[in-house]
Amino acid sequence: MKKQDVLDTSNLDEQKLAELDHRIESIEGNVEEALIDILHQAQNLFGYLPYNLQRYVAKKLGLPSAKVNGVVTFYSLFSERPRGKYTVSVCMGTACFVKGADKVLNRILGLTGTEKNVMSEDGLFTVQDVRCIGACGLAPVVTINDKVYGNVKPSDVDDIIRRYKKGDEYAD
Ligand code: FES
Repeated sequence: MKKQDVLDTSNLDEQKLAELDHRIESIEGNVEEALIDILHQAQNLFGYLPYNLQRYVAKKLGLPSAKVNGVVTFYSLFSERPRGKYTVSVCMGTACFVKGADKVLNRILGLTGTEKNVMSEDGLFTVQDVRCIGACGLAPVVTINDKVYGNVKPSDVDDIIRRYKKGDEYAD
């Protein structure tokens, strides 16, 4: 007998699912073209995109789950795991790498006590490496949410991370 593939969404907030349904129902035109936008909206609602939520979106849009998962894993702005309040992105493009971005990344991981793409225990940080963000003149480059830090040395990182830990992220 074929095993039934049941979609369990019991761990997802019903009100947020209803909100997502509403947004999906308001799509006009091609659902494939709307997919990235809907995933954005789902991530904004739930904070991240667990696999059962991806399957839910796929089912609602009438798309294969593998297609939705392919989009989620391709774009670094989507996350399949809970994210910290601050997303720290360290550019690993060539210009940044040759100027020591790997040392900057390791220093940040040490200070936040986490691994890449895993939320820190205090819920503050998710650290990731990213491809060139187009600011090579500032290499090595680190972004924290929308804020860009250029010419970052490993010795600069302590001060930057300390500020975010103190909730003083807008100070320069
Ligand atoms: S290589 Fe880092 S911004 Fe281009």
